[in-house]
Amino acid sequence: MEIKKIFVVGAGQMGNGIAQVSAQAGYDTVIYDITQELVDKGVNIIKKNLERNVAKGKMSADEQAAILGRLKATTTLEDAADADLVIEAIIENFDIKKEVFEKLDQITPPHAILATNTSSLPITQIAACTKRPEKVIGMHFMNPVPVMKLVEIIRGLATSDEVYQIVEETSIKMGKVPVWCKDVPGFVSNRVLQVMINEALWELYEGVAPAENIDNIMKLGMNHPMGPCALADLIGLDTVLAILNVMYTGYGDPKYRPSPLLKQYVQAGWLGRKTGKGIYDYSNQ
Ligand SMILES: NC(=O)c1ccc[n+]([C@@H]2O[C@H](COP(=O)([O-])OP(=O)(O)OC[C@H]3O[C@@H](n4cnc5c(N)ncnc54)[C@H](O)[C@@H]3O)[C@@H](O)[C@H]2O)c1
Repeated sequence: MEIKKIFVVGAGQMGNGIAQVSAQAGYDTVIYDITQELVDKGVNIIKKNLERNVAKGKMSADEQAAILGRLKATTTLEDAADADLVIEAIIENFDIKKEVFEKLDQITPPHAILATNTSSLPITQIAACTKRPEKVIGMHFMNPVPVMKLVEIIRGLATSDEVYQIVEETSIKMGKVPVWCKDVPGFVSNRVLQVMINEALWELYEGVAPAENIDNIMKLGMNHPMGPCALADLIGLDTVLAILNVMYTGYGDPKYRPSPLLKQYVQAGWLGRKTGKGIYDYSNQ
């Protein structure tokens, strides 16, 4: 099966990045969110990214226009009726994803592949919300999507070989490097990464060092391009907490227990860069 049209559900930081690389790869792309304001916000970020590429000489104005010509925005989920591949990138919450996958299963044509960009939730459980579990797969892009090379591909228990192969090929066409792993809570990436981020948040909670020091120690000492506190703010503290909770319940192991400070930041609505405040303050940026 040839993928021609990709429908991206969610225009947040991951959704707009996925829609951008999809349109750049030549796919007819539709980006969806629940309100016009949210969808416009996502499209504007894509436009700004493309403009920056043109200004830097990485892309011509004609290419930019062609990419934007392939991109459509909608607040109507029914517009997924002719999609070949749906990539879901909404909030990291199983019940909300379940509702969306049930609807997508009704709306999309029988051949359509339903992929999820979930950071941690079981692909098998999401697949079981549909009548086509063989066509459901994890397509885990990294943040920021236009920059990061990896797509972690996760097969559910029922995902077919054909679907895996198509998604692998599509990822390559988007300029990414697909690497598969099994369907376990947090997959490979977040099982390693979030434990480190959570440990940094425990250190912050205990007053071991301020965030700047924790980040500098990891950057200068371990050669990390970004410290764990800055990275948590980039990911979104709500997403970090959701992932840790999935792993905490999924493995039943106290090593994934989220730092109380992380919970408090989320309760305060300090979610990181996307809200202008998280562990650090971004109000002047
Ligand atoms: N942030 C990261 O670094 C990162 C990396 C990889 C994967 N992910 C995963 O990607 C997904 C999205 O994360 P994000 O960082 O883009 O979040 P975000 O908060 O930036 O965006 C989420 C978007 O989903 C929309 N949304 C919420 N409920 C919806 C619904 N019912 N239907 C349609 N849209 C809905 C919201 O309006 C919002 O625009 C999550 O599953 C997350 O775990 C995030």
